[in-house]
Amino acid sequence: MKHNRGNVQLCPITLSCTDDRFGKTNQKMKINIVGYGTVGNAQAYLLRKLGHEVYIFDPYLFPDIKSPERNVDISFICTPDFAVENAIRNLIENKVDGLVVIKSTVPIGTTEELSKKFKIHICHNPEFLREAHAYEDVMNPDRIVIGQCCPEHGKLLISLYSPLKKPIYVTSSKTSETVKLLSNSYLAMLITFWNEANELCKQLGLDIREVANLVCADRRMSRYGTRKFGEAFGGKCLPKDLNHLREAFRKFGLNPLLFDAIQDYNNKLKGR
Ligand SMILES: NC(=O)c1ccc[n+]([C@@H]2O[C@H](COP(=O)([O-])OP(=O)(O)OC[C@H]3O[C@@H](n4cnc5c(N)ncnc54)[C@H](O)[C@@H]3O)[C@@H](O)[C@H]2O)c1
Repeated sequence: MKHNRGNVQLCPITLSCTDDRFGKTNQKMKINIVGYGTVGNAQAYLLRKLGHEVYIFDPYLFPDIKSPERNVDISFICTPDFAVENAIRNLIENKVDGLVVIKSTVPIGTTEELSKKFKIHICHNPEFLREAHAYEDVMNPDRIVIGQCCPEHGKLLISLYSPLKKPIYVTSSKTSETVKLLSNSYLAMLITFWNEANELCKQLGLDIREVANLVCADRRMSRYGTRKFGEAFGGKCLPKDLNHLREAFRKFGLNPLLFDAIQDYNNKLKGR
């Protein structure tokens, strides 16, 4: 069956819409994991637990595996953001079958842009795991977000994740990319909120832990950011994703006052 999405045409590496796997659960699939770091490793663990056949492709970790498996249903891209485009190009050059799904956190609009550039269908399926609890989180996610390229491929991913019996939200890839960047920026904001509050409490001679406990004794509040006080956020994801979000504002000529302030305050804290 032919399907169009804007000027993106059905491509050779896209599954057919008439494929009888759509909508079915517990169907064993063959799946590539491209990039076997924190996210790729956890995704492979999940997919094996769900009974799928998983192939790993990571030329830096496993140089003996020269090319990705060709005959697969899905290839999940789990590389660093900057390597996503090359990873997809490599799948195309190797004539890999099946749907391409970006799990990496990418700048807003990337999935659509790459889809148009390579003339293939690509979904975005952001990962929300915590690095220190990767296996636990990937098996027990709060929600699964599918940024679909078309309903047929959205359905394929729904069928993949439905055995987890967790809420699945299907949306556009632009929405799912924005959700991921805002999620990490929200966490960065909470950490910054408590870091700055800590400065005032110190001057007042107050116990920040007591203050935070009382503030958070309200069901509208999140406790995130109240474990440590006065420590800048870091790691691979929060600073990078906050930056991607700020860049998205600037692309539209907007001035992200709050998100810039989070960055500035965090940099100030790091510089101490
Ligand atoms: N680490 C986390 O907690 C976390 C959580 C959610 C989302 N993410 C996002 O997921 C993505 C991956 O993060 P990560 O922490 O797993 O990264 P990572 O650095 O741990 O692993 C990335 C892997 O990709 C491999 N790689 C690089 N280029 C490749 C290519 N062209 N083809 C195949 N493999 C290639 C590297 O060798 C590496 O093993 C990033 O966009 C990140 O922001 C990370």
